[in-house]
Amino acid sequence: MADGPHTVFIEAGKVRPELFDAHIERRLSSMKGQYLDQEAYRRMLEEEDRLLYEVYELRRPEKEGELLSGISIVHPGKVGEEYFMTKGHFHEVLDTAEIYWCLSGRGVMVMETPEGEWSVKDLSPGTVLYVPPRWAHRSVNTGSGENLVTFFVYPAHAGHDYGTIESKGFRKLMVDRGAGAEVIDNPRWRG
Ligand code: PA5
Ligand code: NI
Repeated sequence: MADGPHTVFIEAGKVRPELFDAHIERRLSSMKGQYLDQEAYRRMLEEEDRLLYEVYELRRPEKEGELLSGISIVHPGKVGEEYFMTKGHFHEVLDTAEIYWCLSGRGVMVMETPEGEWSVKDLSPGTVLYVPPRWAHRSVNTGSGENLVTFFVYPAHAGHDYGTIESKGFRKLMVDRGAGAEVIDNPRWRG
């Protein structure tokens, strides 16, 4: 963890892991129950516990006033018709926002509030996305074979509430039914 004013050089599309403090890997097995086509999920997992996405973090104390930042890399692929995606979460401190800056690849951020509003925003290189306080967020790689790489920054005391999404799911899903990426209602969403 760097102390005092410091810089990190992040070149679009070229992540240098040695610059970061932590590396988190999320595999298919950690997404149980999240993909719509559970049979496709089961078959894929039987073959290999694929690496779906990775996060490189710059550590700071998790207290108010600090910021946490890093790089998220969602690999390309699909489970059935549904694109590889992050678990997604609300912040534990619901009233905290986040900024994402897309460095490379193509994708979307799927978002929703506890009150039922939802939004899906395109991510392409140069896009800066503001996720307002109270909005759960999940990044989805809808590109054709490239990693979706984003830089994120959020208040260090925000925390992650994964449980709500794990049990309810997101209201909207991103699928490819032959005509490219489309948003569909999640038939398994539980309010
Ligand atoms: O804080 C964020 O929103 C990001 O750093 C995410 O944690 C990252 O994209 C991985 O997604 P998730 O935390 O939902 O697994
Ligand atoms: Ni977040």
